[in-house]
Amino acid sequence: MSDGSSFYITTPIFYVNDVPHIGHAYTEVAADVLARWHRQAGEDAWLLTGTDEHGQKILRTATANGVTPKEWADRLVETAWKPLLQTVDIQNDDFIRTTDERHEVNAQKFLQHLYDAGHIYTGEYEGFYCVGCEEYKQPSDLIDGTGEFVGQQVCAIHSIPVELLHEKNYFFRMSTFADRLLALYEDNPDFVQPAAARNEVISFVKQGLSDLSISRSSFDWGIKVPWDDSHVVYVWFDALLNYVTAAGYGHDDEKFSRLWPATHIVGKDILRFHAVIWPAMLLAADIEVPRRVFGHGWLLVGGEKMSKSKLTGIAPSQITDTFGSDAFRYYFMRAISFGQDGSFSWEDLSARYQSELANGFGNLASRVIAMVVRYCDGEIPTPTVFSEDDELIRATEKRATDAAGEAIARLAIHEAIAAIWELVDELNGYITIQEPWALAKDPANRARLEAVLFTAVRGLGTLAVLLSPVVPQATAKLWQALGGTGELPDVRIDQAWQWTGGTHVSPLEALFPRIEAMVG
Ligand code: MSP
Repeated sequence: MSDGSSFYITTPIFYVNDVPHIGHAYTEVAADVLARWHRQAGEDAWLLTGTDEHGQKILRTATANGVTPKEWADRLVETAWKPLLQTVDIQNDDFIRTTDERHEVNAQKFLQHLYDAGHIYTGEYEGFYCVGCEEYKQPSDLIDGTGEFVGQQVCAIHSIPVELLHEKNYFFRMSTFADRLLALYEDNPDFVQPAAARNEVISFVKQGLSDLSISRSSFDWGIKVPWDDSHVVYVWFDALLNYVTAAGYGHDDEKFSRLWPATHIVGKDILRFHAVIWPAMLLAADIEVPRRVFGHGWLLVGGEKMSKSKLTGIAPSQITDTFGSDAFRYYFMRAISFGQDGSFSWEDLSARYQSELANGFGNLASRVIAMVVRYCDGEIPTPTVFSEDDELIRATEKRATDAAGEAIARLAIHEAIAAIWELVDELNGYITIQEPWALAKDPANRARLEAVLFTAVRGLGTLAVLLSPVVPQATAKLWQALGGTGELPDVRIDQAWQWTGGTHVSPLEALFPRIEAMVG
């Protein structure tokens, strides 16, 4: 069903020093909703995710746990990071690990290419480094430590002391790309999104760029620099390359030209790596820059970015075990404006689950289907005369389809869901006003009853198609109960309001069952 255009979307690759929390799952879900949507719009959509396994952070964690870094990474990938994809129902097309041979070999090719083209030189790095961020720091990035670190300068993000490095390193001539980057942001205003993130990146680059140290020589857990095996590649330089090595760079030209360039979804904390360093690397290698880089906000707990290092991490399964993966996906995509920070609370999750998913959508589906069973023996009526109210529902179906598609094109996932929810709300109001249970009492109203039930079934089918990328499990059940033809993800989402219905409904279990005990 592909119409040929490709939509290659990526998540960041995750550090395997620790297990995932809901902030990581949030990135995964956003990218997955977009991938599923584009796939269902007939595009050749490709979702890549994976793990970032080199560098000092992983090395230290492994050493502290008495295993080799590769053993540690294998353990975390198998027991935590791949299972996360099941937990929140991610349909990824590939999973790359930076320890994969396809990555290591082709990352080296890329580096050699830059070296041969004169973009790399030998230098000396003297300055600060935060192992938590795996990032070289300027004095202005540091703040005064508190508690046990009083009197020391600490990383503003991790609140732990930075390290002073003095190493012979290889440097990438990033400074020479500042003007080309500024021209890129100028000529292609959608390249960095949202707008606030774009402005920040532009003013950062306008201050001038330094060259970037791209190798480390004081430890050896990384990809060897191809012309000097006493150095390993700086972990961010290595990690960013995953987006091209997974897409075939250096080993599958056909795949690479089919997929590249990508849309990158990243947290705002790592936007600069993606919007400055990464396009500079690609420009140096004469490879097209990404299609766009979108920096989403943080999930906050108690007003601060949720993180394991600050002991505020919540495991995704804590939510999905009680509410299910659909509710997880819906809640985070609906409640937080994509691109802005959002505070997580159990109360808000629970309230939205009850009012929007269980009462708003789930009940609507159960009631309509139960009425078709009761009043029409399960047969979906085929009326020919419609009232103005029925036509209004039809118009809302079309409007929701168009508005949601338009919002997704802007990566405004929350707006897409809000547009679809207008149909949920209108259908609920329609049922209340039309009172099919009252119409059913008098055979003289039969034609009207049939038009109402048909209209409601049509609306539900449209909702199933439109909500499939967000709540794939519930919509698949609904689709089956509506007697929809084929697999739901194969039904074109950009024509959701024109889906062709089944002939019979079958009983539907509660899509979002009542949750008895609140968790906390
Ligand atoms: N390994 C790097 C990325 C390399 S990409 C070439 C990395 N990994 S990470 O595991 O620390 O973070 C991965 C993603 O999770 C980032 O996009 C980060 O913003 C996101 N999040 C981590 N905590 C988060 C929240 N509390 N809220 C939302 N997203 C969060 O950085």
